[in-house]
Amino acid sequence: MNFKIAVLAGDGIGKEVTDWAVQVLRAVGDQFQHSFTFEDGLIGHAAIEATGNPLPEATLTTCRSADAVLLGAVGHPMYDLDPTLKVRPEQGLLRLRKSLGLYSNIRPIRIFDELLSASSLKPEVLRGADILFYRELTGGIYFGERGRSEDRSAAYDTKSYSRMEVERIARQAFEAAAGRRGRLHSVDKANVLESSRLWREVVQELSGEYPNVEVIHMYVDNAAMQLIRDPRQFDVVLTGNMFGDILTDEASQIAGSLGMLPSASVGDAIGLYEPVHGSAPDIAGQDKANPMATILSAALMLNSAFGLKEESECVIGAVESVLAQGYRTGDIRQTDTPADMVLGTTAIGKAILAALAKRFAPQL
Ligand code: IPM
Ligand code: MG
Repeated sequence: MNFKIAVLAGDGIGKEVTDWAVQVLRAVGDQFQHSFTFEDGLIGHAAIEATGNPLPEATLTTCRSADAVLLGAVGHPMYDLDPTLKVRPEQGLLRLRKSLGLYSNIRPIRIFDELLSASSLKPEVLRGADILFYRELTGGIYFGERGRSEDRSAAYDTKSYSRMEVERIARQAFEAAAGRRGRLHSVDKANVLESSRLWREVVQELSGEYPNVEVIHMYVDNAAMQLIRDPRQFDVVLTGNMFGDILTDEASQIAGSLGMLPSASVGDAIGLYEPVHGSAPDIAGQDKANPMATILSAALMLNSAFGLKEESECVIGAVESVLAQGYRTGDIRQTDTPADMVLGTTAIGKAILAALAKRFAPQL
C-alpha cells in the first residue's frame, strides 16, 4: 500500500528523533512492501526563523495532503527569557491541532518490564500499570479568550467547553474503555469550575449508553495524587486540555521516562503522531536524545492511521528487545546500568533497526 507522511521535525531534538522514526518506517516499508513517502514541513522556532510564521501555510498544505503527520517537538529557550514576544513556537503546534481538527489526544502509558527500576517510583507500584489517556486537545483554557487590562497590570485566560466538545471525546474514551478493562476515570474540578460541572454532566449522561463501563469522576488534584499512589487503579482516563497536559507529564514517570511516551492526536480527518516530550534544548544536537517515544509514535501511526497491526507490533517488539538487551539512553539509565550500555541517539537507533531486521529474518 502507498502512504504519504508529512514530517515536521520542529525544534531542538525534534530532527534527531524524527530521523530515526523515518528510518524505522522505511525499514518496515521495505519488509512489508509498503511504499511510504515522506514530505518535510517547517513548524515552531525553525519556521519562525525561516518565514516569520510558526505554522506556514505550506506546512498546512503538506499535512492536509498527507495520510498522517509525524511531528518531533517545538520550543526554544529564547522565548522563555522574554514573555513579551508575540510570535512563539508553541503557537505553531496549537494552530496545527486546531486546523486539522485534532480534538482527541491519546497517550498510552505503560511500563516495559525492563524499565521498572528506571522510574523514580517503586517497581512494585508500577508493575503491570497500563493507562490510556484521552486528553481533549482543541478546547478549554488553551483556546479560550485571553487578554490584559488596559493598563496591562492584570491578565486573564478563560476556560470554556461546549456540550459537543465534551461529548465527542468522551465517546471515544468510553469506546476505548469498553474494549479494555471497562473502567473510565473522568477528571475534572467540578467542586469549583462551571465548565467542569458541564463536563461531568455530559459524561454522566453518556454513561447510560455504556452499561459495561464503570465511570469514576475524580477531581484533578486527587487524580494527581492517585496516579503515583496506585497507578494500576486506572484504565482509561478522560481529561480536559490543560489537566491532561499536566497529568500526562506526571504519568511519564509510570513509563520510566518522558522519553518513552508516544502520542496520537486524532479527530476530523488525518492523525498526528508525536512524542509527549518537548524539544529538550539542553541536549539538542548532542546525540543524547531518546528516539523511542517518536519511534513508538510511528508504531501508533502504523496501527491507527494505516491499520497495519502486525507492522506496528514489530516496531514495538524491536524497542522492547533493545531494552531487554540492556541498552539504555541517558534518560532511562538505571543505577546498575554499565557505562558501555548507555548509548546515544544514533547507536540506539541502529540497535532498534538491527532488532527489527532480526524480527523480519529470525533465522539470521
Ligand atoms: C504537549 C506540550 C504542548 C501542550 C506545548 C508544547 C504547547 O506540552 O503536547 O503536551 O501544552 O499541549
Ligand atoms: Mg505537555
